[in-house]
Amino acid sequence: MTSKSVLLDRVRPAAEQPLLRPGVDRASIGKLVREFYFKVRKDGRLGPIFAGEIVGDWEPHLEKMTDFWCSVILKSGDYNGRPVPAHLKLKDVTEADFDIWLALFRETAAELFAPGIAAVFVERAERIAASLKLAMFFRPGSAAAPPNAAGST
Ligand code: HEM
Repeated sequence: MTSKSVLLDRVRPAAEQPLLRPGVDRASIGKLVREFYFKVRKDGRLGPIFAGEIVGDWEPHLEKMTDFWCSVILKSGDYNGRPVPAHLKLKDVTEADFDIWLALFRETAAELFAPGIAAVFVERAERIAASLKLAMFFRPGSAAAPPNAAGST
């Protein structure tokens, strides 16, 4: 490692650094994605939402989500899509649905990874979920303030 990259690792927030650990690679991330969406599809609330959007072959979605998580966790650069517009068009999704989504994700990550690694996946998922929720549900000027608004508790 060069002194420059050591310096960058000090100043870069953890979320911008690749999680370089044995056993965290495209294969294990792909397994996480597949097991997670297996649970999602069986879920009474989320299953029908996804079934309404993904008609037929799930493989392209699973590969896209593997690219997405490899980019988030390994900084692979495999994903170059735009998650916000993909979710803005989902008119039936509520904020409570994100709790279900996160609970299933947390459960799957805990089944497949050591606790410290699972915690990194979950922390990133929670942050992305929070920003998707802001984009989907927060209306400036409405009574509800964003969760991290100044003065909110
Ligand atoms: C209740 C919560 C959620 C629901 C119902 C939901 C549903 C969906 C659906 C239906 C799609 C489109 C699938 C397709 O046509 O290929 C999608 C795409 C996607 N979702 Fe979610 N999602 C949720 C939460 C999340 C969260 C928390 C994340 C990230 C941590 C996420 C990341 C993505 C990404 C990256 C895509 C692909 C967007 C693209 O590039 O086309 N989703 N989601």
